[in-house]
Amino acid sequence: MLKKSKKNYSKINVWDYLENYHKNKKIILDIVDKVFKSGNLILSKEVQSFENNFSKFTGNSFGIGVNSGTDALQIALMSIGIKRGDEIITVSNTAVPTVSAIISCNAIPIFVDINENDFLINADLIEEKVNKKTKAIIPVNLYGQSANYEKIIKISKKYNLKIIEDCAQSTGALYKGSPSGSFGNLSAFSFYPTKNLGGFGDGGMIVTKNVKLYEKCKKLRKYGMSKLYYSEIHGINSRLDEIQAAILNYKLSKLKSCIIRRRYIAEIYRQNIKNKDLILPSENVDNYHAYYVYVVRHPKREKIMKYLQNNKIFCNISYPFPIHSMKAYKNLNRKKNNLKTTNKVSKEIFSLPMYPELSMEKLDKIINTINKF
Ligand SMILES: Cc1ncc(COP(=O)(O)O)c(C=O)c1O
Repeated sequence: MLKKSKKNYSKINVWDYLENYHKNKKIILDIVDKVFKSGNLILSKEVQSFENNFSKFTGNSFGIGVNSGTDALQIALMSIGIKRGDEIITVSNTAVPTVSAIISCNAIPIFVDINENDFLINADLIEEKVNKKTKAIIPVNLYGQSANYEKIIKISKKYNLKIIEDCAQSTGALYKGSPSGSFGNLSAFSFYPTKNLGGFGDGGMIVTKNVKLYEKCKKLRKYGMSKLYYSEIHGINSRLDEIQAAILNYKLSKLKSCIIRRRYIAEIYRQNIKNKDLILPSENVDNYHAYYVYVVRHPKREKIMKYLQNNKIFCNISYPFPIHSMKAYKNLNRKKNNLKTTNKVSKEIFSLPMYPELSMEKLDKIINTINKF
């Protein structure tokens, strides 16, 4: 049992990169200094080294560093030739970029409902959405847990569909013992500062085992060029900075222990939260959950979040609005969508503070406060 908290804490954020920065300040600033002095700032040695290390880490052969997770998704879609009118199966319970990347390719997102227990794509509902226009599936490994790839891969083979894993939230997770990002034809990662592997700015990467897709993604991130000032295909500008790559390379070496710490915090929550109305996250048997966020569910979400906030504990909701409910994407809200579970859970889910540097004292305070609600 945790003891009653006596200390008076300042606010507890849902995530906090500053604690990590203060811990590693000297190392980070030395890395930045080294890059500045190198004379190379974009797509050079540090990026290549990080592409090698990260692609290996995810069980792939090639990595293409880009400007963000959003760009990683868009370039992955472009590389498999997605064009106007193609349909891409995904979920509405996700971050906007999963869907905006599809729309940037003039393709149509087709939403499948989610499972009630893990909030991930319900693989049993995918097949009924497949038709002649369907070209790919983007399973989103949301909150740090992989989707059901055993079923998804079977469907993709049956209908000759490509899989692009959205791994923005699942860096460091495993599915049946293999790394998240090792199941798709291509997989897209984000290094946004809050992520399990977060930089000090934007960043992303596409990983793949396929050399042709690798070559194509490399061109696509740089105006469609492989030789200077000559575009072979239409591409975009999406490059990873040397500073980000160098810092991420260092942070990658610490990632496994950071995930262990996240899992430890999740276990402390699981063992000590005693609020019968608060549903804690479930970890599927095939999964090693990387706990990017710790998503709980409560029928009186607004009330409990307000109460926690009054006690200086700040939570977050990922996500309060399913994509199909937003003004920008209203046209995707087709009646046949039937997203009952997505709609229902979006009104009840919220995330408790979760980051590796979260101290036992802060955890203690969060748990004791929740237990008094
Ligand atoms: C599920 C998901 N997909 C894609 C992205 C896009 O990543 P980025 O913010 O690096 O563009 C994010 C980031 O928020 C995400 O959570």
